[in-house]
Amino acid sequence: MVVEEEFALQDRDFRTLSKLVMDTAGIVLSERKRAFIHGRLSRRLRALGLNNFSQYCKLLETSDGDSELRNFINAVTTNHTSFFRESHHLDHLARVILPELMTANSDTRRIRIWSAGCSSGEEPYSIAMAIHNSGKSLAGWDVKILATDLDTNVIAHAARGIYDAERAEGIPAAMKNRFTTVQDGNVVMNDELCDLITFAHLNLLERWPMSGPFDVIFCRNVVIYFDKPTQTRLFNRYADITKPDGWLIVGHSENLLGITDRFELVGRTIYRKVGP
Ligand SMILES: C[S@@+](CC[C@H](N)C(=O)[O-])C[C@H]1O[C@@H](n2cnc3c(N)ncnc32)[C@H](O)[C@@H]1O
Repeated sequence: MVVEEEFALQDRDFRTLSKLVMDTAGIVLSERKRAFIHGRLSRRLRALGLNNFSQYCKLLETSDGDSELRNFINAVTTNHTSFFRESHHLDHLARVILPELMTANSDTRRIRIWSAGCSSGEEPYSIAMAIHNSGKSLAGWDVKILATDLDTNVIAHAARGIYDAERAEGIPAAMKNRFTTVQDGNVVMNDELCDLITFAHLNLLERWPMSGPFDVIFCRNVVIYFDKPTQTRLFNRYADITKPDGWLIVGHSENLLGITDRFELVGRTIYRKVGP
């Protein structure tokens, strides 16, 4: 039996939508993503009572489409994440980076970390747990994690700090006991973690309101969706806003080869800034 699709996505409309995502968020929508986009956006068409994708493209192109642009971007981002994902980065943070920063920054007693493209918050909460669990006392230290994402839905979820039990399974048991509480079957992040983190909506391609400088930037599994020129611009901006010798941590399938030489590889997908 052939099931007729509710809304057909014509090539012309797919091209229009792809260009809009590229221009707005830097995300390249390859042909492989077509079914994913089709599924996600069909829901938007239904919610808006539209008959086809051409009407949806028109809506996005008109000024009335401004608020829909946000829904559109939220619908096409890939937000896959988990607690303690690529946990070797967190081990490195606790065992190597933090002790080194506590010596290097002993005059200011300030440490700034940025989780760029933090999705629904599992990454910054894992970073906060790794820091508290490092055995280093934070007494007298001003430690802050800025956690940002383009998608307003995931950043709102992240700021709530409440996860269903299944999602929280990735948190090692001892840390789950120490840093979370269970309420109505959900796992809630404790104040000790929340106090370290500031969540904000931010498009990495646009102006950054913060001046830094950051000691460590986590930008993991974000740039895989960007083309090379966009990656080059972004990583050079990271270098500008990072302290000398600062750290940049990227995702398992990402690297800076042919992108920028302002960071050098010092570990498994762990980079350090070169130069001032
Ligand atoms: C696959 S998730 C990665 C989450 C987390 N860093 C991790 O590794 O588990 C990628 C995130 O990047 C965000 N993102 C994509 N383009 C962005 C942009 N231009 N500005 C800010 N965030 C963006 C998406 O909304 C998504 O939540």
